[in-house]
Amino acid sequence: MPKNEVVETSEAQIAVHWQEEKYYYPSSKFIAQANLTNEDVYKRFSLDNFPECFKEYADLIDWYEYWHTTLDTSDAPCWKWFVGGKINASYNCIDRHLKNNKNKTAIHFVPELENEKIEHITYQELYVKVNEFAALLQSFAGLKTGDRVTIHMPMVPELPIAMLACARLGLIHSVVFGGFSGKACADRIVDSGSKVLITMDAYYRNGVLLDHKEKANIAVDQVEKEGQGIDKVLIWQRYPDKYSSRTSIIEGRDFIVNNILKDYRGKKIDPVKISAEAPLFLMYTSGTTGKPKGCQHSTGGYLAYVAGTSKYIQDIHPEDVYWCMADIGWITGHSYIVYGPLSLCASIVLYEGIPTYPDAGRPWRIAEELDVNIFHTAPTAIRGLRKIGPEEPLKYNYHFKHMTTVGEPIEPEVWKWYYEVVGKSEAVIADTWWQTETGGFLCATVPALNPMKPGSTGPGVPGIHPIIYDDHGKEIVAGEGRAGNICIKNPWPGSFQTIWGDRDRYVGTYYARYCKNQNSKDWRDWPYLTGDAAMEAEDGYFRILGRIDDVINVSGHRLGTKEIESAALIVPEVAEAAVVPVADDLKGTVPDLYIALKPGNPPSEEISSRISEAITESIGKIAKPRKVWIVSDMPKTRSGKIMRRVLAALSNKKEVGDTTTLANPDVVDEIQKMTSI
Ligand code: WTA
Repeated sequence: MPKNEVVETSEAQIAVHWQEEKYYYPSSKFIAQANLTNEDVYKRFSLDNFPECFKEYADLIDWYEYWHTTLDTSDAPCWKWFVGGKINASYNCIDRHLKNNKNKTAIHFVPELENEKIEHITYQELYVKVNEFAALLQSFAGLKTGDRVTIHMPMVPELPIAMLACARLGLIHSVVFGGFSGKACADRIVDSGSKVLITMDAYYRNGVLLDHKEKANIAVDQVEKEGQGIDKVLIWQRYPDKYSSRTSIIEGRDFIVNNILKDYRGKKIDPVKISAEAPLFLMYTSGTTGKPKGCQHSTGGYLAYVAGTSKYIQDIHPEDVYWCMADIGWITGHSYIVYGPLSLCASIVLYEGIPTYPDAGRPWRIAEELDVNIFHTAPTAIRGLRKIGPEEPLKYNYHFKHMTTVGEPIEPEVWKWYYEVVGKSEAVIADTWWQTETGGFLCATVPALNPMKPGSTGPGVPGIHPIIYDDHGKEIVAGEGRAGNICIKNPWPGSFQTIWGDRDRYVGTYYARYCKNQNSKDWRDWPYLTGDAAMEAEDGYFRILGRIDDVINVSGHRLGTKEIESAALIVPEVAEAAVVPVADDLKGTVPDLYIALKPGNPPSEEISSRISEAITESIGKIAKPRKVWIVSDMPKTRSGKIMRRVLAALSNKKEVGDTTTLANPDVVDEIQKMTSI
């Protein structure tokens, strides 16, 4: 049996526990227009009707060929949905809308600089651009169905255009968050075996035009060092016909997309009819070991699931203007900026920059100008906007009907500001809990059906049946007041298919823990382990407490402690590194790094900054530790294991608890003195 990745340290142990909150109810105005108002839905999606219930979601999209088997469990726990079906995601997000909506805006692109004009791209224009770029990928780059393509781009329309062009040809895209370093991009290129890297020369962030192409150079060098090659680097220009990077163009390897596209003007590419289970994309995420996991998502099941949840949980209608402030480089952006909303023919807003540029009124000016009525963001952004501009939303004349929060637990106090000030007490809030692996929402309130409860996500969304187990596999029931490991009893179409190239790790990490019979082909034997700790209140609402594995959630972004620690170990003086999450008012949690140096190296500021630098270079700025603590030794068990729980308590200025099992309890006092200053 593969070893599962769950380890002793738990964020839940340092999680803030708050009181039960009172309910908030959706307005009758919201209910009157909502997509889902029939209570019956929970019955329709009950386990008795599983898996056929998901036909309802699959019927929201167009199929070239209908499937013959809704769920095939023969290779459990690698689930196959809608087997026999033929489909294309690009067709579903674009072509099928042309008949009635070709002049409708598909993408409102808002550049970060406020004096640059907002670009409105219609569905017809999107169709043309996606076709031309698909033609380029096919003819110029020589890519074929099933090839992987790495895309490392900022928040510009060319990013969804590139994704949809890949989808059109059945290429598997692997989008790497633009803020990640060249090295992090390289790791993902190597793991996915991509031969083509799509990037951009530069983009704006916080008022500065950042050179992005330089990361591509670092990435390709690194990939080559690892014995793999990149055939072509395709470079979009932030300003067409102007190259905004200091780096030079490497002959025969680097190509400016806008120059080559001229050869493909007006070219049309028939969408490839691919099977429902063919992978649509890989999305890398952090796990317990250093190596990021490529979550492999299907085409048919995934698209059906994100269309269904966008329609019923986000309440997207074709006439809505929908703005999700997440980055497309994360799963939220894939599911709920690109594939879900576009498959429903919504108009989406794509904003290049940070929410507080040039001031905390920016998001509300954008909302006012574009008449955004559905808004979607993460607690970290809400906290930031509340801190800097608590009154700003009141100055602008916009009206949201619906708002989403995602990525980390939201404190009730912050929730109430979101509701009362941002939402002007008019909008419903959906606190959506889910993961890169799950493709779409797991828990949330159905906005017109369930009241909201600040700080709690909600019940399982239709068709998702959560269950909480204790460490011994015993179920913890609703209202028991105990936390445990939240699992999902049943498969669902949005779920990832496997970890790219590592089925054992997939089974070991997500399914082995509570599976009683690993030979079983019955889905009932395979509860999905989410890796989160949670509690279920009497009303069936879940409260998510945090990770049970070595993953740190910084501003709603997952970082593996091992990834950060391995980066620190690149600095030659470092003997040992341990990362722990520290509570932070704005970001939720931030990493604190403990370092033990090799003998003969005295601690210095210079070493600390080299360590921080190494982490930024390896992963990106988001992983930079709040503080590097150089200690004489790590608190360890007698078997030599670093006790991260103790370090986490010290960083968070909490009680350390029992240290009798430590081999070196004295070191705790020493570290306490250091961290308490
Ligand atoms: C956390 C992001 C509390 C959780 C979509 C999960 C949340 C991890 C919520 C996945 C929420 C996500 N309330 N915690 N509403 N949403 N999380 O893969 O710990 O980047 O396991 O996917 O974020 O992060 P990921």
